Amino acid sequence: MDIDRLTAKEKLRLICGKDFWHTEDFGGKLPQLTVADGPVGLRVVKARAADGTETAYPATAYPSVQLLANTWDRDCAKKMGAALADDCLERDVDILLAPGVNVKRTPLCGRNFEYFSEDPLLAGEMAKAYIAGLQEGGAGACLKHFCCNNLEYDRLHQSSDVDERTLREIYYLPFEIACEAKPVSVMCSYNRINGTYGAEYKKGFLVLREEFGFDGAVFSDWSAVRDRAASARAGLDLEMPFCEENYQKLCKDFEEGSISEEEIDACAERVLALISRCKTMRQGKKPRRTEAERRRIAQEIAAEGMVLLKNDGTLPLAAGARLAVAGCYAQPSDMGMLRGAGAAAVNREGETFSVPAALKKRGYAVMFEPAFSYDGVDSFHQDARRAAGLASESDVSVLCVGLGEKFERESADRETLRLPRVQERAILASAAAAPTVVVVFAGAAVDMSAWADKVSAILFAGYPGAGGDEALASLLAGEKNPCGRLSESFPLSLADCPASREDGVSAGVTRYAEGLDVGYRYYITHHVPVLFAFGFGLSYSSFAYRDLTAEVGREGITLSFDVCNTSERAGKEVVQVYVRECTPVVYRPARELKAFEKVFAEGGGRQKVSFTLGRRAFAHWSAAEDAWCVSDGVYEILVGASSEDIRLTLKVRAERGTFSLLPLQDGAECDRIVS
Ligand code: BGC
Repeated sequence: MDIDRLTAKEKLRLICGKDFWHTEDFGGKLPQLTVADGPVGLRVVKARAADGTETAYPATAYPSVQLLANTWDRDCAKKMGAALADDCLERDVDILLAPGVNVKRTPLCGRNFEYFSEDPLLAGEMAKAYIAGLQEGGAGACLKHFCCNNLEYDRLHQSSDVDERTLREIYYLPFEIACEAKPVSVMCSYNRINGTYGAEYKKGFLVLREEFGFDGAVFSDWSAVRDRAASARAGLDLEMPFCEENYQKLCKDFEEGSISEEEIDACAERVLALISRCKTMRQGKKPRRTEAERRRIAQEIAAEGMVLLKNDGTLPLAAGARLAVAGCYAQPSDMGMLRGAGAAAVNREGETFSVPAALKKRGYAVMFEPAFSYDGVDSFHQDARRAAGLASESDVSVLCVGLGEKFERESADRETLRLPRVQERAILASAAAAPTVVVVFAGAAVDMSAWADKVSAILFAGYPGAGGDEALASLLAGEKNPCGRLSESFPLSLADCPASREDGVSAGVTRYAEGLDVGYRYYITHHVPVLFAFGFGLSYSSFAYRDLTAEVGREGITLSFDVCNTSERAGKEVVQVYVRECTPVVYRPARELKAFEKVFAEGGGRQKVSFTLGRRAFAHWSAAEDAWCVSDGVYEILVGASSEDIRLTLKVRAERGTFSLLPLQDGAECDRIVS
């Protein structure tokens, strides 16, 4: 539709939304867009109570975004996006308010279960695939929250104070990569960035549009706008939801000339373009998968994302074993125990989840005991005794522990990385009575140092969606081979996390004092040991990396090598490529992820893997040049099975923009290199 067909008043109204979930249609003059949350299942609100409590229609629940990221598999992300598009088509939703790509600066952030990773490349690549699946399926994406909403504490006011280089290399990067999938919209963040509210972040919006090729509309986060005229001048196209007060003030500002018609037109035109783009995207599209097929996709992704963190050989469980399944998470009385709360909460009414039943189905003799309750009250240590009592009658105890919406939620952060005391006590008691497999249902890193060395096996199950009990049982029983890898480091304790130190926070300001040293970048550079490293995960197979070759071509450096399955079992390996600058003239973290791929190999088989690292893989954002620069010098390329398990290395020299290979070192194929 041509903008000239709208009056000035209509344009002012158009850029302010219609209600909570729709754009303005002027009684049918324009097609209307419907938007809805969220990243892991559709949340179409059925009713909203006076206190703001919302009830949504039941929908297919997919695994938490963290679990999706643990798959390290772009195909999984694309499938999840495509399945969500079917859900959107069925409920007439034009734009899904997802995905969120905020980098996990601290493991305490209450919304980490909704976000992908502490690494910007992994977050960006997975989000790009998710958006492609969603938009090809007929629903628009809304990439959020731009940017630096890395804590929920005081999120409506806090200023994230970040230097430009850190913004470029860490916090913008997932947005830059995800923009390659051409999302139809981006949502601003609530917080301020270097003092300016996310809704008025003109400089950032320009980077999105002029440098990252973003050609959609910028939305506000819900009620994030304080001054509609200022946000429109900054390039925020659509305020959501409609706010009468802001709209009246905008009209007044317009009449008084503090915002021009051209400035309003720029936003209104982008909203009109958004409407026609979304309607074209949807045209002729019908859901391609039945509901049952979508549930199967959720289950498949969960099985790909669960991470085996420890195993002394107890897993896979021996056929026919007597199992003591304990912990209220094994058969939750409330599905809220298996998700975080807020915009990403899915109504799972009518769904059942039972680990005991899924294991029984597979021929195990199963006893079940909830042992402790979700509210964590245990004044006489009865719970731990119950878990131990049951364990002592079994061959193996499978103890299901976790967090849930009480702990992980929008608008509040976690207070600790540890599990509730009752759960830790139950783990220790069970481990003293029988070999114990701990299954952790959570959406973020958990401090396991109080018990990790006492148990036989640990499986991080995330928040699985529909069919998560089956996915879990198939891994425990060995029908499936674990192949998830951690998308975030699991530190030994909160005190080790660079961003959780109090000195970064003062009234209203969070100083990103650690700069580029986020997650594993910090732990590896500063030799801080972690419990489980970024990229880590075990399998029932074992892999070796062999026969590295490399060549320099026009596109960059191409590495090729073989991933050899040295076991008899077919399995998947996640191959990770990191880069280190050996003699930097500006600060560089000691290891940064630059490429990854999930690879399948039959038992005894091998798979050739190739990666091409372009110039950007070696570049840093130069604050001196305001550009990406590759310094002259030597770089090490590290190929590994995790950020700390490097198997192959190669050195290259950069000289005035040209790369050359340095001779392969002795031991270029080695078990482990410690920096
Ligand atoms: C959240 C967004 C969400 C929106 C609509 C906000 O509070 O931050 O992520 O999409 O609400 O529910």
